[in-house]
Amino acid sequence: MRVLRTERLRLEPATEANATLLWRVLQEPDLREFQDLPDVDAAQFEQIVAARPRRLEAGVSGRFEWLLYLEGVPEPAGWVSLRLAERASATAEIGYSVLREFRGRGVATEAVRAVVGEAFACLSIRRLRAYCVPENTASRRVLERAGFVADGVLPHGATVRGRPVDVMGYIVERDAFSSGQRTEIPASG
Ligand SMILES: CC(C)(COP(=O)(O)OP(=O)(O)OC[C@H]1O[C@@H](n2cnc3c(N)ncnc32)[C@H](O)[C@@H]1OP(=O)(O)O)[C@@H](O)C(=O)NCCC(=O)NCCS
Repeated sequence: MRVLRTERLRLEPATEANATLLWRVLQEPDLREFQDLPDVDAAQFEQIVAARPRRLEAGVSGRFEWLLYLEGVPEPAGWVSLRLAERASATAEIGYSVLREFRGRGVATEAVRAVVGEAFACLSIRRLRAYCVPENTASRRVLERAGFVADGVLPHGATVRGRPVDVMGYIVERDAFSSGQRTEIPASG
């Protein structure tokens, strides 16, 4: 995994070294309103992150995460995750959150575009998926602006606060993304 840079953001790969920082971000209570996040302590989370694959490359499976930083701001503004299931080699799933104080400035949209671009650059997947509950209007806007299209409702597709909920599926195809979007990803990091 490498550091990604966009016009205003730096996306730092989650590693053992910054896992506790990411864990703290994940504890923000309002991030759990619309999604299920891991319920482990900081030490367990560090072990989970340490056991993950480090290289984002064709054929890999597992979870990859980046902490988001707005240039000039020392604390993280949020995070983006990419999950590659073992048996779904054509597809990966993206997830994201932005801390309350940094919302409404296009941070999530910019970060999601960067990770979608990186996923298509490093992996041989054909499409990326995302899921969100229908009432999460902000998240749906993020996906639409990042080039995703709605792909129907998945009944009981996720668990939020311990309850099964219906989710909207979104997809972005490699071809649609490369022709319609532009992502700044330098080779550094
Ligand atoms: C969803 C989330 C990531 C959006 O982050 P963000 O950085 O504020 O997103 P952006 O600024 O890139 O875009 C937000 C878009 O939603 C719109 N929006 C924000 N709040 C809204 C609301 N309550 N109702 C309708 N639209 C809303 C904004 O106007 C913007 O759209 P626009 O650019 O067309 O004006 C953030 O709200 C969040 O982390 N929420 C909690 C966790 C979560 O829901 N994560 C996603 C799980 S699927």
